[in-house]
Amino acid sequence: MIVQTIGVVGCGQMGAGIVEVSLLAGYDVIVYGRNEDIRPACQARVRSSLERAVGRGKLAADEAEAALGRLRGVAHLAELAAADLVIECVAEELALKQGIFHSLDSILPPAAILASNTSSLSISQLALATGRPDKVLGMHFFNPVPVMRLLELVRGLHTSDETLAIARKVGAYLGKITITAPDSPGFIVNRLLIPYIVEAIGAYEAGLGEAALVDSAVKLGMGHPLGPLALADLIGLDVTLAIADTLYASSGAPSFKAPPLLRRMVAVGRLGRKSGQGFFEYRR
Ligand SMILES: NC(=O)c1ccc[n+]([C@@H]2O[C@H](COP(=O)([O-])OP(=O)(O)OC[C@H]3O[C@@H](n4cnc5c(N)ncnc54)[C@H](O)[C@@H]3O)[C@@H](O)[C@H]2O)c1
Repeated sequence: MIVQTIGVVGCGQMGAGIVEVSLLAGYDVIVYGRNEDIRPACQARVRSSLERAVGRGKLAADEAEAALGRLRGVAHLAELAAADLVIECVAEELALKQGIFHSLDSILPPAAILASNTSSLSISQLALATGRPDKVLGMHFFNPVPVMRLLELVRGLHTSDETLAIARKVGAYLGKITITAPDSPGFIVNRLLIPYIVEAIGAYEAGLGEAALVDSAVKLGMGHPLGPLALADLIGLDVTLAIADTLYASSGAPSFKAPPLLRRMVAVGRLGRKSGQGFFEYRR
């Protein structure tokens, strides 16, 4: 099976990034957004990212225009019927993703592959919402998608070798280095990353130091490009909380337990960069 058209469901920060790298790799892309505001916002986001690449001399202006010409925004899932591979990137909620997988299963041709960009939910469980569990896998991209090289392919209990091989090939076309991870809580990266972020937020809440100090200590002492609090802001505090809650529920490991401060910040709409305020303030 050759993938020519990629469908993307959900156009938040991850969806927009996946749309962008898919367009630049030469794929036709159909992006589904659930309302009239989101679709143009996604297209504008992809356009402005491509324009920045043109401004930096990394992309020719005509290539950017050609890439945008391969993008179609749609308002109904049924319009994804032409996709060979759909990558789902909606909010981190099991029932929501299962519902989308169930609908897509009856819309897509039998050979099409269904992937989720989930950070923490079980791929095997998502696969059961479809009649094609062998064609379901996790394609876990990292934020910002155009910049981060890794693509974690998550093999569910039913995922076939052929499905994995096709996803690996697509990953290579997208310019990513792929690794295969088991369908266990957090896969590889979030198994390690979420306890680190949770610990940093908990320690900050307990008075370890100002946010800038905590982050600077990590950047300077550990050579990380971002400190843990700025990273949580970048991921989105709502997304970070959803991931921590899912991992804690599925594993019971205390290292995933969300600190009360994280929950309070999400409850009042301090979501990090996307809302303009998290552990740090951002100009919008
Ligand atoms: N943020 C990260 O750093 C990161 C990294 C890797 C994976 N992920 C995963 O990617 C997925 C999306 O995360 P994000 O950061 O892009 O979130 P986001 O909040 O930026 O975007 C979520 C998108 O889901 C859409 N959505 C929500 N409910 C919907 C519904 N009922 N029907 C259709 N669309 C709906 C929203 O409109 C929005 O476009 C999540 O599963 C998350 O765990 C996030």
